[in-house]
This record gives sequence, C-alpha cells and structure tokens, in this order.
Amino acid sequence: MSFNTFGHLFRFTSFGESHGAAIGCVVDGCPPRIPLDQKDIQRELDRRRPGQSRFTTQRQEPDAVKIMSGVFTDERTGTQFTTGTPIMLLIENVDQRSKDYSEIKDKYRPGHAGYTYDIKYGIHDYRGGGRASARETAVRVAAGAIARKIVPGLTVRAALVQMGPHKIDRSRWDWSAVDKNPFFCPDVKQAEFFEGYLDGIRKAGSSCGAVIEIVAEGVPAGLGAPIYAKLDGDLASALMGINAAKGVEIGDGFAAVAMSGIENADEMRMGNDGKPLFLSNHAGGILGGISTGQAIVARFAVKPTSSILTPRKTVDRYGRDTDVVTKGRHDPCVGIRAVPIGEAMVACVLADHYLMHRGQVGEGTAWPFKPGA
Ligand SMILES: Cc1cc2nc3c(=O)[nH]c(=O)nc-3n(C[C@H](O)[C@H](O)[C@H](O)COP(=O)(O)O)c2cc1C
Repeated sequence: MSFNTFGHLFRFTSFGESHGAAIGCVVDGCPPRIPLDQKDIQRELDRRRPGQSRFTTQRQEPDAVKIMSGVFTDERTGTQFTTGTPIMLLIENVDQRSKDYSEIKDKYRPGHAGYTYDIKYGIHDYRGGGRASARETAVRVAAGAIARKIVPGLTVRAALVQMGPHKIDRSRWDWSAVDKNPFFCPDVKQAEFFEGYLDGIRKAGSSCGAVIEIVAEGVPAGLGAPIYAKLDGDLASALMGINAAKGVEIGDGFAAVAMSGIENADEMRMGNDGKPLFLSNHAGGILGGISTGQAIVARFAVKPTSSILTPRKTVDRYGRDTDVVTKGRHDPCVGIRAVPIGEAMVACVLADHYLMHRGQVGEGTAWPFKPGA
C-alpha cells in the first residue's frame, strides 16, 4: 500500500494502524535551526485527542508524542533545535479494544473502507479500520505543528461552522470562543445548541456531518505556482485527503457561482504600506494558483460517521447479504476533531510551498516595478 508520503520539500511519511503498537511519521525536509520542543507538538495533539468530551469517541489515548530524531539541544543555549535531518515522531497506541470489532470482522460497514480495501488489496485490518482509521491523522497534526514553524509570521486557525444542516451565525464569530467549547465553534450560542442537537443524534443511533473553515494569516504573496502546483489545488488535495472529507471550497467556493462578476471582483487599491490592499477576499487569498498575501480561506465538508448503532443493510466478505450494527467507541460527528487536522494539513501545504517558492525564486519580489521597467 504505497502513497503514504505527503509533500515535496517539506515531506512526511506516516505509518501505523488504529490497533497496532504505535503510529508515527518521519518528517523530512524541515530546515535546520528551528526551535522545536516536544511541547510544541503535544499542544496541537492535545486539541485533537479523543475522549475529551461526551461529543467525541471515548477511546482514551494520551497521544503522547516522542521526538526520536532530528533535533539537538545545544548546551550553550539550552534550546532544542531542528538539525535539518529526518525528524521521527512516535505516538504509542495504548487504548485499543480490538474485540469491539470481532462481531463485524466479516461485514462491511456502509460508508467505511473495508470493502474497497478488500477489493484492492485482498486484506484489511478490521480492528478500528486499521490504516483507514482517523487515528492516522494524529501524526498529521504532529507534522503540522512543525510545519507551522517554517513560514515566518504564519497563523493557521480553524473552526467548525456547520453541524448537520445547522450553520453558525457569522455575525457572532469569535475566535476566542473556539477553544472554549467542545465543538471548536466560533459562535457561542450555536455551540450551546449543538450540545442538544448532537445528544439527540447519538441517542437516535445515528451521526451527522460538518463543515470546517480554515483561515491562514501571514501568508506571504507569491506562494504556489500555475497549472500543476496551484496552491488551491494542493490545499484541496490535502483537505480531501482527510478521512470522511467529501467536499472542499476555497474562498467563496460554490457560492461564487451565484454572484455577478461585479460582486465577485476583489477590487484593489494601494495601501499605506506600499502593498496593494484588496477591498474584499472572495478568492480566498489565491489567484492563478498563487497566494495574494491576503488570508487564505478554505473549507471542507465531512460526511456523517459511518459507524452507527442503527442496523444497516450490507454484505459480508463471502458475498452474502446481511445487516451490520457498529458498537464500540465512535465520534458521532467526526467534524469536531477534524478541526485541528484541517489546520495541520493547511500548515503542511503552506510550509511545502514556502520552501518550494524560496527554492525557485529566492527571497523578495520585483514588485512594484519602476515606471518603464
Ligand atoms: C477525526 C475523525 C474521526 C473519525 N472517527 C470515525 C469513527 O469513529 N467511526 C467511523 O466509522 N469513521 C470515523 N471517521 C471516518 C473514517 O475514518 C472514514 O470515513 C473511513 O476511513 C472511510 O474513508 P472516507 O470516508 O474518506 O471515504 C473519522 C474521521 C475523522 C476525520
């Protein structure tokens, strides 16, 4: 099963299964002399960790990360820095309950990956979904914590903006609320509503989907390239690569279709700092596959969790009709823990493009040109 590596210059290769001994990744291409402490990575992992509220899976994984290589503490400064060599990150699995899956080991969960893995590889690890489990996304969050440090001045934040059919009220958007409710929701009032809504969904033996919005600020203008390395193309690929993702939008996305060209134009004026000032950001900070210097705005939609307590029709690995009920510990809405995962993937894409941009054109820009140049 190849294709476990993300990125070009900032790359990581992930390994591990949901119920194996450990998961982890090797990050290659991280520049040297970046201060990197285990706590920088742990802080991000703690946001994605399961079992933190009744609204996520009750699997109790501390997700304690160990940095196994690629760093060095200089005793003259006492600071741990990256050395530019491969950074291996390791997270042990400590709370697997494989017996939860023995009842369904021969049956395919509708919406899960067992059937397609069997069709393609002739083998699949039914314990928690094996490699198809979102357990793997912990290492993306860990790699993302390193990526965040590569682009100077970069901030990547995300929030849950819709659960099931219920959207937030954008006029109540408050970034400071995001880490204070169990949904990473920027609308406090809607977060209160989500509690009852999700309890109801769970009690009904079902699940729901969500939309996550990511905003990256401090992105230098010029990242990305036309055609096959469009920044928006790579962001879409990275976000679509998250388990359960079913749609990605950049900027106004599908809503741009309903706008006129007059409304959709991101008009420009010169700002006092000698840089252009965009009067709106329908494009989501990317034009021609290249960043404009505005905030990059992306959204992705995740489908409802496929593991539910309501019996669903399916077939088994021997080609017989049957029904399946998924017991065990599952996220009733995977969109909640997908918030830090979306942030991490965007940070990884931006770090990769930052290094590629530097490799191709160096620092600085020729703009603005002198008259006649
Ligand atoms: C944070 C997160 C947690 C998830 N937890 C579960 C889960 O508990 N049960 C489940 O059936 N799917 C869960 N999923 C989704 C499956 O991993 C995913 O649906 C499956 O691998 C099939 O792939 P696909 O939906 O991308 O086609 C989760 C996804 C994410 C992002």
